[in-house]
Parts: sequence; structure tokens; C-alpha cells
Amino acid sequence: MLRLSDISTYYGQIRALDLVNLVVEPGEIVAIIGANGAGKTTLLNTVCGILNARHGEVYLEGKPISDLSAEAIVRLGVSHVPERRQVFSTMSVIDNLLLGAYHRRDGAVRQDVEQMFEFFPILQKRQKQAAGTLSGGEQQMLAIARGMMSRPKLLMLDEPSVGLAPLMVREIMRIIADLRARGTTILLIEQNAKAALGVADRGYVLETGRIVLEGTAKELMADEGVQKAYLGKGNKVQLARCRADTDTYACIDDESIKSCVMCPARNGNGSVLTSGGALVL
Ligand SMILES: Nc1ncnc2c1ncn2[C@@H]1O[C@H](COP(=O)(O)OP(=O)(O)OP(=O)(O)O)[C@@H](O)[C@H]1O
Ligand SMILES: [Mg+2]
Repeated sequence: MLRLSDISTYYGQIRALDLVNLVVEPGEIVAIIGANGAGKTTLLNTVCGILNARHGEVYLEGKPISDLSAEAIVRLGVSHVPERRQVFSTMSVIDNLLLGAYHRRDGAVRQDVEQMFEFFPILQKRQKQAAGTLSGGEQQMLAIARGMMSRPKLLMLDEPSVGLAPLMVREIMRIIADLRARGTTILLIEQNAKAALGVADRGYVLETGRIVLEGTAKELMADEGVQKAYLGKGNKVQLARCRADTDTYACIDDESIKSCVMCPARNGNGSVLTSGGALVL
């Protein structure tokens, strides 16, 4: 379906991607995991034609697409759900969905809106509401549904779990699995390695613009380096506080806040049990 061959992308003199090679086969969910600044968004923007690679080629179904415009790439069946779920906040839910089909000339757009409402019942309930008034999770659903409105062969999602509570992250990952079951191939970019590798078939680890590791999701989850760097395993940490805005992450460390992980101090229904004290992840 998709192949990147020796892709290097620059911002001026800064090399953000360095000879990246990756493959997404039809029907797969492929995850790319990496920390802040690793080049994940740059990679997606290079595939969808927002950025031009300085070196290498992107192939879609065997055909080079690097020289095509972003719009032409959408027409070929690549849809991109950008990071931070950029919905058009003053527009209604339904108008956001219709925008996702702006380039389509076939008569089945309304039918697809109905299908998205079936798939995301909450969006049907909120269809007349301004998108900006939806909750974070609902906005993420709308962003995904809008991405699906172009009837993509390949759906690329940039950090769909960011800022969402664990239950909503699970729901979004379930939706991603369902979309694949309906025949959409998915490239999933995530910092939340646990969530991404939980749903993906295969994955790649991106570090400062380079693919440093690849394998099946199972292999990556079992990898010691991945466990330490991305799954937070084996590190003794201090649970400092949970983020007030989303209640999703625990910021952890001895004194200063070094990193954020999914709050481990939650009970089964997702509420925070405690903060403070040390724990081993
Ligand atoms: N417009 C830009 N101009 C200059 N440098 C940029 C620009 N956008 C990104 N970069 C740099 O390129 C590198 C990769 O950025 P990118 O946004 O792709 O990372 P990311 O993996 O998506 O990070 P995050 O998880 O924070 O979204 C970073 O070092 C970043 O500072
Ligand atoms: Mg990014």
C-alpha cells in the first residue's frame, strides 16, 4: 500500500527525517512510535504532500507520489487526521463531516455521513452542535470520522490518544481496530506506545528522524529498550501529580517533573485513587 524509500525531509538546514524506510501492507495497522520531536508529524506530512522530501521517494500502491500536491494525494485515497484533532470549531459536526468529502463528486456523501453516524452514535446526537463544544474524545471521533469521509484506502492518524482519559484512549483504539476490520489500512502515529502497540500489527520506532527499530507489535512490546524508553517499565518513579486538565497522565519524578506517563494509580473505572508515593512501573 505505502512504501517510503530513503526519505529525508528538512526544515531549512535541520534534517528532521534521515533516510527513513518503511512499508505498510494493505489491511495492516502499522504504528510509528517516538518521543516529542522524533519526526513523527514530519513523516506524515511528507507522505500526504504538505512537506516535500529532499531525498527519497514515497510510493502509494507502487506509484511514486512525492511530486503530487496534497490534494492529488487525498484523491488517490490517503487521508490524514492531523495532531491535536483540528476540527473547525465554529462549524457544526455535520458540516465538519461534509468538509471531509469536499473533493468527492459522487452521490454517496450523505449516505456516508449516515454511516459515520452509525459508527459514531454520539456524533449523530451532536450533529447540529458546533464542533468546538464537543469533549476532547468526541472531537477526536469527529476528526477520525471526517478523515473517513474521503473514503480513504490509507488513513493516517497523528497521535489520536493525546490528552484523552484512559477509557477514551481504549475507545479510540477500538474504533481504529474496527476501521481496519472494514477494510481501511492504517498508519498510526503515537507517543502512547502501549496503546498503539496494543492495536497495531507491526511498528517502527523513530528517534531523532531515524528508524531505530522495527518489528511486530509483540516483538516491540517485548523489547527491553522499548519497554524502558516508551513503556516506562522497570523505572522507579515518584508519582507527583495528575494533570488537572485531562486527568490522564501522572507527572512523575523525584523532585522536578521529568516525564509523563499514563496515570497508573487508577482503579478499574478510571478514577484516580491517589497521588504521591513511589511506585515501580
Ligand atoms: N516548521 C518547522 N521548522 C523548523 N523545525 C521544525 C518545524 N517543524 C518541526 N521541526 C523540527 O523537526 C523535528 C521533528 O518535529 P516533528 O513535529 O515531526 O516531531 P514529532 O515527532 O511529531 O513530535 P511531537 O510528538 O512533539 O508532535 C523537531 O526537532 C522539530 O523541532
Ligand atoms: Mg507531532
